[in-house]
Amino acid sequence: GRQLVIAVDGPSGSGKSTISRRVAQAIDARYLDTGAMYRAVTYAVLRDNVDLGDAVKIAAVAEGVELTIGTDPATPHISVDGIGVDREIRGAEVTSAVSAVSAVPAVRRLLVDRQRAIIAESERIVVEGRDIGTVVAPDADLKVYLTADAEERARRRSSENAASQAATAADLARRDRLDSTRAADPLRQADDAVVLDTTELGIDEVVERLRQMLDKVT
Ligand code: C5P
Repeated sequence: GRQLVIAVDGPSGSGKSTISRRVAQAIDARYLDTGAMYRAVTYAVLRDNVDLGDAVKIAAVAEGVELTIGTDPATPHISVDGIGVDREIRGAEVTSAVSAVSAVPAVRRLLVDRQRAIIAESERIVVEGRDIGTVVAPDADLKVYLTADAEERARRRSSENAASQAATAADLARRDRLDSTRAADPLRQADDAVVLDTTELGIDEVVERLRQMLDKVT
């Protein structure tokens, strides 16, 4: 049948990953976590002790690294130079450095090309990130922009890790600010995106609403 591309953008803690994976599983689609790709490059940058202010060296790491990106929504494994880094890329070190790495235009060019190639070879795919509806897949069949109150997003994230809610809230606010104000492909709502505030919605409710939107576009 016809190709189906669903773009899911929004800030951290908006529910993007959980929702995107659930929707992909429900409609038997692939799933691409573009944030994991920026995190994997950041892992390599830290591994190589590269200065976060050195865009030239960061770009060189991104070019030299071999990323393997799984697109199975049940087990989306990612590896860097043959080594699985699923756990490492969620750690505090990578999380605090990723916004600096993802702001480097050469890193974005490389990863956006790779993302487009993965999308091109998928019959159905749910792609989540910050710039999917605006830059990576502007022709997506459905664009969803998920949001939630800052406090609720921090609550969700701190229940996933050991950090306190206050520390998580501060980190989220910092990342949101960096991700929304950077020059290259900032976090932005596409004009034709459906905005869904998940503050008061359960996961099942959001998944159900997305499926209803999908019924209308397919
Ligand atoms: O979604 P997640 O929190 O894993 O993303 C980690 C970081 O990767 C974001 O804070 C952002 O800096 C970057 N990112 C990006 N563009 C995307 C996805 C993620 O710049 N499409």
